[in-house]
Amino acid sequence: MTLSSPAHDTLIDALAESGYAIADTVLSPDEVTALAAEALRLSRDGALKPAAIGRQASVQLDPTLRGDAIRWLDESQASPAQQAYFRVMHGIREACNRELYLNLVELETHFAVYPPGGRYTKHLDQFHRSGARKISSILYLNRDWQAPYGGQLRIYLEGEQPEPYLDVDPIGGRLVLFDASRFYHEVLPATQPRLSLTGWFRMRADHPLT
Ligand code: OGA
Ligand code: MN
Repeated sequence: MTLSSPAHDTLIDALAESGYAIADTVLSPDEVTALAAEALRLSRDGALKPAAIGRQASVQLDPTLRGDAIRWLDESQASPAQQAYFRVMHGIREACNRELYLNLVELETHFAVYPPGGRYTKHLDQFHRSGARKISSILYLNRDWQAPYGGQLRIYLEGEQPEPYLDVDPIGGRLVLFDASRFYHEVLPATQPRLSLTGWFRMRADHPLT
């Protein structure tokens, strides 16, 4: 399934206007189910690694700050469902480049599985001295997610201030995009395992830092 251009336009308009965008039907339900099954299989096989925070010298593992386990995707080895994901994401990347002049050249993506109770405390995705991660994207994979399970993505709308914020339920098939340099955000704990594909569109490394 490919994203039609009106759907692209809506996403790009929202990104340009608010700095974030939410779309619920970028993949088919079967593709979302297949990706969820892959995430669960990797988890059962012990193929996910506890996720770290920080970078290089300051990397640390602290499950009270960040509770998910991850595995990076290798696009050259993508399963059919992952290929569908990459097709959609590259379509969005090209639309961002065309309409917003962003010069996004890469996409890095990992599966993320949060166990019940797992959270990711308030943070910014862009590393301090690098503007390379331009747009954050999360595709949620739990098909039968219910709001009372928790696990919302809380997006802070005014810098580090605790309010106002927007809570997004991690509903299977939902894609969230936001400006990685602008929005602090956090993952609230859930009562169920919470599955996603989290990615970042990156600028060319030699692009001036923002
Ligand atoms: C992240 C992150 C949000 C989410 O992995 O950096 O903020 O809703 N994820 O999973
Ligand atoms: Mn984040």
